[in-house]
Amino acid sequence: MNRRAKMVLDRELRIARIDERIYGSFIEHLGRAVYGGIYQPGHPEADEEGFRQDVVRLVKELNVPVIRYPGGNFVSNFYWEDSVGPVEERPHRLELAWRSMERNEIGINEFSRWIKQVDSQVMMAVNLGTRGIADACNLLEYCNYPSGTKYSDMRIRHGVKDPHNIKVWCLGNEMDGPWQIGHKTMEEYGRLAAETAKAMRLIDPSIELVSCGSSNRDMPTFPEWEAATLSHTYEYVDYISMHQYYGNRDNDSSDFLAQSDDMDDFIRTVIAACDYVKAKKRSKKTMNISFDEWNVWFHSNEADNDITENHPWQVAPPMLEDIYNFEDALLVGLMLITLIRHADRVKIACLAQLVNVIAPIMTDAAGGVWKQTIFYPFMHASLYGRGTALLPVISGTKHMTAGHGEITDIETVAVYNEEKDELTIFAVNRNLKEDVELTTDVRSFEGYHVLEHIVMENEDLKAANSLAEEKVYPVNGDNRSRMEDGFIISLLKKASWNVIRLGKYPAVREK
Ligand code: AHR
Repeated sequence: MNRRAKMVLDRELRIARIDERIYGSFIEHLGRAVYGGIYQPGHPEADEEGFRQDVVRLVKELNVPVIRYPGGNFVSNFYWEDSVGPVEERPHRLELAWRSMERNEIGINEFSRWIKQVDSQVMMAVNLGTRGIADACNLLEYCNYPSGTKYSDMRIRHGVKDPHNIKVWCLGNEMDGPWQIGHKTMEEYGRLAAETAKAMRLIDPSIELVSCGSSNRDMPTFPEWEAATLSHTYEYVDYISMHQYYGNRDNDSSDFLAQSDDMDDFIRTVIAACDYVKAKKRSKKTMNISFDEWNVWFHSNEADNDITENHPWQVAPPMLEDIYNFEDALLVGLMLITLIRHADRVKIACLAQLVNVIAPIMTDAAGGVWKQTIFYPFMHASLYGRGTALLPVISGTKHMTAGHGEITDIETVAVYNEEKDELTIFAVNRNLKEDVELTTDVRSFEGYHVLEHIVMENEDLKAANSLAEEKVYPVNGDNRSRMEDGFIISLLKKASWNVIRLGKYPAVREK
């Protein structure tokens, strides 16, 4: 085989303990995410509250520790009081971000009940677009204060005795974006976010706060936005947010898969901006990252523009319903590898989104649920990517791309789960023409052997799943990995997602 890569792992050489919240996700009041997604009263799978249990089961398969809510762009004109209290009294509102009709049937209290069903936690965003400090404080008092005040007692009157105790709060959403309702300059946002954070911490000092970073790496104000806004918020927040979506608009699959290198570069630059502000302030505190929107998003752009421009004010229109193919799953795998490699600074990350809207899980209004291609790499990372990210030494062959020059064939990372005595290697071969042999030095993992080598591969990069047929799914790649004197020799087929699991206990399937 002409193409090779080598990786040296040592159980003592570590990047950081992975914060499990990097396997978070996101539900926005957008399209069919809430209405017709998690909530569809009258559907045969709906429980007495209208929550679809087939959706709950799939969310639980993904084991998602935190879910951002209620937006997204939606939050920048969200009047939270509209979404609580007796449902029949809740107003219908023009939802300006997506030009839809919001009937407020689901709000904070219902969503918190759903969150319990999926064993997750809410990560709440406040409206810093059309509202400000007072409303953010009122919402926090409603959610987290036990009782005896205007808003905590209002919550109790609404039937929720115990506070929600929401830990992580986003100070607005994508405030650098001209599309945002209430878009702000960096000075305006920095001041508002700092003052909101200060006031919110007075109510509940135990919360964690996320300051808005740039909406993507191509924003004209990036990275000045990070430096300028953090110079206001640094003392008062715990994270700066990152958002990034990619697409294969030029239909150049090789170049499409190079975009995880852009994500890596984006993260490094944001870390540099954070550390610049840290130095300027002579601060001892290290700012971490909440990468709270990431995914592939481009398939549905045209259809969505048609809905917002020509067919506005619908209830739960089918928006952002990207149908993902096999190469999208490869990029999602590459993005997960990139996030794990930055486990020392990326502490929260949210796959955007979770149900129907640029989502791993899709529902059929009259039928069942189905898994998009991207469901699987996310599930593998969430299940097997818990523990400590190891610091790998990697070398290997490269190939040329049109827009990114020469890039590596193999992108990989390893996670060591000490509690379970397991080691998992995630690897993508992003060479679309040739297989690669990966040799991994695991001599420091004495007594470990290959448990299984899970693969996702497909001759057709554009193969997609649907309710009728699942064409892209993981299989056990028998004999793809073997152990020789402390080295694992793995065959990584061209264009493939690989999960190589090692452990001390008996193999899942003997090789
Ligand atoms: O996730 C879809 C949208 O993408 C979000 O509402 C917004 O924050 C981002 O632009």
